[in-house]
Amino acid sequence: MTRMVLSAITLALALVTGCGGAPSDGAVTPDKQAGAGAGAGAGAGADTAQVAAGEKLYAGKCAMCHGAEGKGKGTTPGVIGKEALPVDLAKSKARTGPLKTGADLAKLIKDTMPPDARGSLSDEQSFSLTAFILHKNGVALGGKAVDAANAASLSIH
Ligand code: HEC
Repeated sequence: MTRMVLSAITLALALVTGCGGAPSDGAVTPDKQAGAGAGAGAGAGADTAQVAAGEKLYAGKCAMCHGAEGKGKGTTPGVIGKEALPVDLAKSKARTGPLKTGADLAKLIKDTMPPDARGSLSDEQSFSLTAFILHKNGVALGGKAVDAANAASLSIH
């Protein structure tokens, strides 16, 4: 008898929990799908908002030296293109080590660029510039924003 009562209570609880869970699951799923859709909609494999922010920053703070297309200017090295961002560039004063990943690039930008205002960029700005430069160099960003968590896994070359 006691067992039957307990079973009934357990069943009732299961039903209540089940019913309580269903509507919130239903409410969350469309949002998640919309989010995934927006990411997939970036198409080129980048977070388009972050890349756009980086492009704006580049035009305002970097293009005067590195060129509007990032091809370099005079003695200033290019940052976009096949020959740009070689792994090792001994003569660059900006380098403190090899340039292999998005994390290396973001650090270099944050610590040394622009040369006349070192340290003026926020982490967020450095990652936006990194996203823009990587994207322009054809690095697939997996539809995600470049950040401290994933930058080291993005290979430049
Ligand atoms: C006043 C000119 C100037 C400005 C502005 C400038 N840079 Fe530079 N940048 C240089 C020079 C010169 C170098 C080469 C390193 C050196 O010798 O100091 C360089 C190097 C770099 C490198 C490393 C290239 C390599 O292959 O080693 C990156 C990446 C870079 N700059 C990104 C940026 C970004 C992003 C901005 C904008 C926030 C920026 N730079 C603004 C002059 C500039």
